[in-house]
Amino acid sequence: MALVIKNADIVNADTRFTADILCDGETIVRIDREITPPPGAEVIDATGKHVFPGFIDPHTHIYLPFMGTFSKDDYETGTKAALVGGTTTIFEMVCPARDMSPADGFALWRQQAQGKACCDYSFHMGVTRFDADSASQLRDIVRAGVGSFKVFLAYKGAFGVDDTELWQTLALARELGVIVTAHCENETLVSQLQRQLLAAGRTGPDAHHDSRPPRVEAEGVHHLMTFAELTGARVYIVHLSCREALDAAVAARERGVRVSIETLIQYLVLDKTWAERPDFEGAKYVMSPPLRDASNQAVLWNGLASGLVQTVGTDHAPFDFATQKPMGRDDFTRIPNGIPSIEDRINLLWTHGVKTGRLTLQQFVAVASTNAAKIFDLWPRKGVIQPGADADLVIYDPSYRGTISVQTQTQAVDYNAFEGWPIEGRPAVVTVRGEVAVRDGTFCGVVGRGRFLKRVPGRS
Ligand code: URP
Ligand code: ZN
Ligand code: ZN
Repeated sequence: MALVIKNADIVNADTRFTADILCDGETIVRIDREITPPPGAEVIDATGKHVFPGFIDPHTHIYLPFMGTFSKDDYETGTKAALVGGTTTIFEMVCPARDMSPADGFALWRQQAQGKACCDYSFHMGVTRFDADSASQLRDIVRAGVGSFKVFLAYKGAFGVDDTELWQTLALARELGVIVTAHCENETLVSQLQRQLLAAGRTGPDAHHDSRPPRVEAEGVHHLMTFAELTGARVYIVHLSCREALDAAVAARERGVRVSIETLIQYLVLDKTWAERPDFEGAKYVMSPPLRDASNQAVLWNGLASGLVQTVGTDHAPFDFATQKPMGRDDFTRIPNGIPSIEDRINLLWTHGVKTGRLTLQQFVAVASTNAAKIFDLWPRKGVIQPGADADLVIYDPSYRGTISVQTQTQAVDYNAFEGWPIEGRPAVVTVRGEVAVRDGTFCGVVGRGRFLKRVPGRS
């Protein structure tokens, strides 16, 4: 069926103009002035609203066995929440335990998404061990359409790789043209600092950030940069949180390392005082790397505006406050890490980024959609409004005023880290490949319609 968006203020990462958009089936087929809708077409008048390409979250954990428990969303609730918030494509981290083969991990994550995902999705394939078998399976997984790997320099004994495995993963990635995404924190420093803090009686969530100070992250980034430089692999730093880590990445970029950088909405709008809240409330704000001193926020906003930082993700990792965060009530190192944000990323970035003048409309689209599509080989199918692209559209209402709350959220977790925060805009309509999936904050799409997006490394 055809869909026509009339009077669209179309905002791409590099252009802005007013026109009508004709979508036929799953694709944008024409952008022009005064398009006459074909018979039977659905017509939506976008007067007074912006029309953005569907937003892309480059980093989610909808299904995550982690720290002795499982993240709360499943692909149905997690992708519905993504859509309500304007995100039409997610990149999920496949995180197999070290004793699980890559092939089994990939199959398990695909099975979790199958029949449930409501938005499109792709995977970053977690490499949590490297041997001859895994190398051959990773080649198959790349051939099956997963054009990126994920490594953890933290979480040794769980997902973390050693330096030989890191080298081998980067060398294979270089050979295949695959980009390697990486969690950069020095694990030895983390575990020694954790031990020191616990011995000193610091058991609460407020100790978490002291166990992972900025230097720990900068050291992880420096380590990855050295390995990327010597293997020649292309890399992507996930969830960069602070000035020290950014400095290490930018220094490497200046000497030729091919590195892209992601920050998270949490680091842009929250600071470490949230994790210092009394009565274990701070546990809601425990994630890794941790929330930082507020002075880092300007560094990250400026990094986005100046192009040093390419993307804003969520690292959505939802764990209930009532039943899961208390696993670490007497020992902060056992608090399941993560601050759920998949539903609120875009409205927060809009409210705190565009409305405050920190980002232009075009920069907003670039860091929340287009850059991820380009870095991860989905562009120009995703990340742009132009003929031939998938008809993933966000008709955004800048006059909407509302408040974030657990009471009204779609994500399946028992708290919202931004409870009571005002938002100054929201998606009025969201389409996925030509079908309306959200109207006025409510999911109205088809469960299971989300498609696994095959990617070919180097295509964008
Ligand atoms: O705290 C976090 N980031 N939780 C999810 C796992 C990860 O490190 O990405
Ligand atoms: Zn991580
Ligand atoms: Zn993550």
